[in-house]
Amino acid sequence: MKIVLLGAPGAGKGTQAKLICEYFNIPHISTGDIFRAQIKEKTALGIKAKEFIESGNLVPDDITVSIIKETLNQKQYNDGFLLDGFPRNIYQAKKLDLILVEKRQFIDKVFLIDVSKNIILERIAGRRFCGQCGASYHIKFNPSKYGDKCEVCGSILMHRYDDKENIVLDRLEIYNKSIQPIVSYYKQLGILQTIQGNADAKDIFYNICSFLKAV
Ligand code: AP5
Ligand code: MG
Ligand code: ZN
Repeated sequence: MKIVLLGAPGAGKGTQAKLICEYFNIPHISTGDIFRAQIKEKTALGIKAKEFIESGNLVPDDITVSIIKETLNQKQYNDGFLLDGFPRNIYQAKKLDLILVEKRQFIDKVFLIDVSKNIILERIAGRRFCGQCGASYHIKFNPSKYGDKCEVCGSILMHRYDDKENIVLDRLEIYNKSIQPIVSYYKQLGILQTIQGNADAKDIFYNICSFLKAV
């Protein structure tokens, strides 16, 4: 099964990705997680990506597309994957198709998680993140059992740098500018499903699952 998750910053892509990938046993590919891991390791890619991410901008397409191409060409992704945070504009969507065509593959389903702005801002304001292992929490909706420490590795939880309010507003603006052409593109292909995202994470997951049973 090959799935794409679309949605605004803080819409819940990472949260749904985790549930879907565990349930269907498919690998999760998050470009944001890849960049954050590279930033943590201070690799050349991480150093390059950091300035874009921390200012709320997109990392340039050539860098991002080549990471996705390299990732999808690894054999553990041959039978299925879930893309979270890619594509982010129509250029990336078309490049993704080209990468998949070469492998005689195609996307089965694209979900757009649709969440209102006030809920997005509440989700982002309460998000806490583990800089060590990347686990994500929410102080109200998904708190760590260990308070301000990570359940997985015990590290102190923190805010994501790009979750500062002024940066979030810039991220949202970029999203709102680039999402419509992607939505039209996948609608035309007949694989887009919009999901009401102003709901409990479990209910959103059940809703998504109901569309995946047919795939
Ligand atoms: P990325 O990490 O992908 O960030 P994003 O798209 O802005 O999305 P988020 O990760 O902030 O939110 P999410 O939708 O995953 O929500 P989550 O599940 O965490 O990208 C970061 C940056 O990397 C980009 O800005 C860009 O610079 C760069 N980048 C990445 N991909 C790129 C690309 N393709 N091209 C170029 N640049 C790229 O949920 C949020 C919070 O809400 C959590 O606390 C969660 O617990 C909570 N929550 C989730 N669902 C619910 C629910 N239903 N009810 C209540 N709380 C909920
Ligand atoms: Mg995410
Ligand atoms: Zn951790």
